Amino acid sequence: MSRFSLPPDPVFVTLNASIGFDWRLYPYDVEQSRAHATMLASAGIITDADRDELLKGLDRVQAELDANEFKFLDDDEDIHMAVERRLTEIVGPVGGKLHTARSRNDQVATDMAMFTRAHALRAIEALQDLQTVLVRVAEAHLDWPMPGYTHLQRAQPVYLSHHLLAYFWMFKRDAARFELVLGGTSELPLGAGALAGVNFPTDRRLVASELGFAGVVPNSIDAVSNRDFVLDYLNAAATCATHLSRLGAEIVLWSSEEFGFCEVRDDWASSSSIMPQKKNPDAAELLRAKAPRIVAHLSGLHGVMHALPLTYNKDMQEDKEHLFDTVDTLELTLAAARGMLESMTFKRERLAAAATDEMLAAVDVADMLVKRGIPFRQSHGIVAGLVRTAVESGRVLSQLTPEELREHSEVLDDDFYAVLSQGAWLESKESEGGTSLARVREQLAHAKAALDQT
Ligand code: ARG
Repeated sequence: MSRFSLPPDPVFVTLNASIGFDWRLYPYDVEQSRAHATMLASAGIITDADRDELLKGLDRVQAELDANEFKFLDDDEDIHMAVERRLTEIVGPVGGKLHTARSRNDQVATDMAMFTRAHALRAIEALQDLQTVLVRVAEAHLDWPMPGYTHLQRAQPVYLSHHLLAYFWMFKRDAARFELVLGGTSELPLGAGALAGVNFPTDRRLVASELGFAGVVPNSIDAVSNRDFVLDYLNAAATCATHLSRLGAEIVLWSSEEFGFCEVRDDWASSSSIMPQKKNPDAAELLRAKAPRIVAHLSGLHGVMHALPLTYNKDMQEDKEHLFDTVDTLELTLAAARGMLESMTFKRERLAAAATDEMLAAVDVADMLVKRGIPFRQSHGIVAGLVRTAVESGRVLSQLTPEELREHSEVLDDDFYAVLSQGAWLESKESEGGTSLARVREQLAHAKAALDQT
């Protein structure tokens, strides 16, 4: 019997169905159904015999789904209906008892919490793998000088290891953001029913412990209305993807002929269908380009949840594609970043040549004057004058004569030339977190310790 006098319009059926994408919740849906059936029997709501039938049937449903033998029907609106429909075909009318004391509203919130949690854990693992590679690559290029940039203009020399380790700390913060998702998925929504609780003496804590939740959501209205944990995952993913985009962008730049700082291995590059000489860093370009898509998913779900009255609304079915595409995109790009990074080669000579640009020592010359008692703002001006004299006469700084130096400042002596000799500018960056080798070694040790703690 149906409440309606007309069958649903086919366009409405297509609009309303989520089975095309929510089928991938099935492992969580079946697992929670097992826990729910077990609880119903232990609370005396169904018999043990009913429970055994349900569990046996659920095993078979799961096996069919795992083996890709499950036949979805046109009437299967979503994964929850599909599982129950097939279960009932297998075990008969007792299958209809599974949904006792449960609504699809608390059911879908539970599936989503389980799915989100599992993938937050995966992201944390993938980030650790990537951080491990960064430590390894940094260690292998510990004392390779390169220019550090601001505004993409050569600024000050740094060691390549130091630059790579910057990404280590970005990914560490990303992992911390995914840890927050674990907290946000630690309470079980199931048992909230449609919104108000259920008319049976259920044991929500039993289900929670079966499914690995630390506790139960204390308010049934909040339980079915909440998708914060999806937003939290998307937020963590958006920032992480943005970090990956910066890494990708640098690899694209650095592997250009103009920079020539690195080369991706052949198995991470593509060629051109017309220009036989081309070796394109496509993977790095895609790391760069995937980030805005994830940011759009975050913004998209904020749009769905914005001003949405409590409790469940069908709008919330839209959480899934935003989450699923984000999970797929993020896991793929994290794996690509790792594979590309661990196989790429750096060009010591090119990096060093760019780093020996004497202009990179401008701050160091200014600081030398500061150590001789000249206020920094004034020494900045003196060095700016030196740079201008050199540039305008087509020379580098060390080609300025001692007489010219004295014209700019009487405290400028031969130490000026010593400061310009390259190693000194790196090794004098001895402040904590700076680029001197001792400090980079110290940083590497911190990074390794941070990895060990996770
Ligand atoms: N497919 C639905 C979703 O993803 C499941 C919940 C449906 N609940 C309802 N009251 N119609 O949100």
